[in-house]
Amino acid sequence: MSALAGRRVVVTAGPTFEDIDPVRFLGNRSSGKMGFAVAADAVARGADVVLVAGPVTLPTPEGLERIDVRSAAQMHAAVMSALPCDAYLGAAAVADYTPASVSARKLKKQPGQDALVLQLVRTRDILADVAAHAQRPQVVVGFAAETDDLEAYARAKLAAKNVDLIAANRVGVHGSGFESDDNTLIVFDARNATPLGPASKADVARGLLDLVEARLS
Ligand code: C5P
Repeated sequence: MSALAGRRVVVTAGPTFEDIDPVRFLGNRSSGKMGFAVAADAVARGADVVLVAGPVTLPTPEGLERIDVRSAAQMHAAVMSALPCDAYLGAAAVADYTPASVSARKLKKQPGQDALVLQLVRTRDILADVAAHAQRPQVVVGFAAETDDLEAYARAKLAAKNVDLIAANRVGVHGSGFESDDNTLIVFDARNATPLGPASKADVARGLLDLVEARLS
């Protein structure tokens, strides 16, 4: 039997959208496919899964509870209310910064104004807050999408955020990362680096959950 059977698993997926005014927002290119594949595979292993999804256009995998959110602040609140859990996998591409204020009216071009300065403030780090929670999940997994220095950033993140595994992928590489159906990850823990793929996101999700299972059992 899977070590995940009967365990509570919380997964985040997709981008967040940070509103600027009623028609504009700051977003990113995450499709949500990786997080949805992880959530579906955890269901297949008998886990009790909560999927917190940013704005994506993906069908809901069967057998899980899906909570739809839009902003980083909403995702933070949804995740905190889904705790405690046994394993947390933060696959969402959460905005690091959000507009300091949301304009109630559509921002207009001003005559003679050639530049517009938008003030942004840091969002709360969901992954770090989960890892620092009084009822910390037994296994906390973060994701890292980087264009370069993959290992250095991933190892720094493991320590800084007190997470157990960092699933790192290189963005800007064909057949990997955002929007693609395939992915290539290197999963780092304090000692090891485990390559997964290139393979379908479903296969990569299976490999990642094998590593989570090994830590749960
Ligand atoms: O430090 P960086 O943002 O690259 O770390 C990425 C990881 O942190 C991902 O797992 C992402 O879901 C998570 N994260 C978060 N809350 C934020 C920013 C990132 O949970 N505000």
